[in-house]
Amino acid sequence: MQLSILLLASDRNAATQLAQALAEPGHGVTVVSSVPDLLSSAPRYSLVVIDRVQGGASVADVIAQLRADSSSPAVPVLAISQSADLEERIALLEANADDVLTRPFDTGELAARVEALAIRAQHAAERTGSRAYNDGSGRRVVAVFSPKGGVGTTTVATNLALIAAERHPNQTLILDLDLSFGQVASHLNLTPKQSVLELARDVAAQHDHELFRTYAIHHPGNLQVLAAPPGPGFSSLITAQHVEQILTVAAEAYEVVIVDAGAALDERAMTVFGRSDTTVIPVIPEIPGLNSVHIMLDQLSDIGALGGSSLFVLNNVFARDLLKRSDIETALGAKIAAELPYDPLVYLKAVNEGVPVIRGSSRSLPAERLRALADTVFGPVAGVVPLAAPKEKRGLFGRR
Ligand SMILES: Nc1ncnc2c1ncn2[C@@H]1O[C@H](COP(=O)(O)OP(=O)(O)O)[C@@H](O)[C@H]1O
Ligand SMILES: [Mg+2]
Repeated sequence: MQLSILLLASDRNAATQLAQALAEPGHGVTVVSSVPDLLSSAPRYSLVVIDRVQGGASVADVIAQLRADSSSPAVPVLAISQSADLEERIALLEANADDVLTRPFDTGELAARVEALAIRAQHAAERTGSRAYNDGSGRRVVAVFSPKGGVGTTTVATNLALIAAERHPNQTLILDLDLSFGQVASHLNLTPKQSVLELARDVAAQHDHELFRTYAIHHPGNLQVLAAPPGPGFSSLITAQHVEQILTVAAEAYEVVIVDAGAALDERAMTVFGRSDTTVIPVIPEIPGLNSVHIMLDQLSDIGALGGSSLFVLNNVFARDLLKRSDIETALGAKIAAELPYDPLVYLKAVNEGVPVIRGSSRSLPAERLRALADTVFGPVAGVVPLAAPKEKRGLFGRR
């Protein structure tokens, strides 16, 4: 059974080790470092593992909060106890942890406990007919957005989509919701005859998977593409309600949906954030822009607009490094989860030829980094768990 596991861990080294151990049997693992990220994402996972919590809260407090949240009552929780202290163990079980594993433990024991919990949860869900149990089939919606254009949003979205399509052939959709200047089709060298605009006018297709799929165009990378409207004049014809309905059906019709959400922070973008498991935000090393992203994210979190976790990609669009990573992270108020190197040719060749980097320059450093980003977003491919965490995975965690 392949599971999607959500891990809350505050210590970076412990998180990396635990994530690798959990991923070893082929499970997908997402790491979050904050309690709000855990609470908002938990309903979409088949299992939650809680290691250590930052700040004052105890693991037992967090489990109690999770249980109190009606959207995720059925998610099984494995708590890691830091010592063999009986009181700690009792507190965790009283808070309704499904199981408690005491440090130190070996990876075999961890895998066995995880498997047992998943089987129990599945049986319980079958008995009650509950659909709260996520079977780990990996269905997910990933949005790529940046409040600024020209920072690599479409580059990241198209490459992530092609990597997802390698893992889920013909079950991956890239949806171009950069409604004014969508360039997904051109990055993929496709000339769409229809777009999200026609789909938005077809009420039947917004409720029927088969009809819905007829609006997507096929890319030879086994990727389905739903293009943006043909020009900025049509953008206003697509409302937030359309976006909501389109994303609902898309998430049912495909295993993975990647949304290029463009750079306009409007109600439609907010709808995308609310429906996404992960929002990937490319940023460039430029302080005012980073500050704006910081403010935007704070405001979005305050109003609860982000449905899942957010993850930052530093795109080095300049030839020189003028800023230190620590300065960038300070301005951003968050960790960088992945970094794309500057390259004067590879990306430009990709957009001009309509062949994304991971296909057109598959052995280049940008391609390697884009694949590392995909591992962070989707979880590593089963069986290919890196032994040492590569540098760019440093910020598996969400926001500071
Ligand atoms: N790291 C990089 N180094 C050099 N050029 C880049 C880099 N990332 C993106 N580009 C180029 O920048 C341009 C804008 O990228 P794009 O993905 O279309 O951005 P957006 O969707 O945010 O407007 C493209 O020509 C792309 O090839
Ligand atoms: Mg773009």
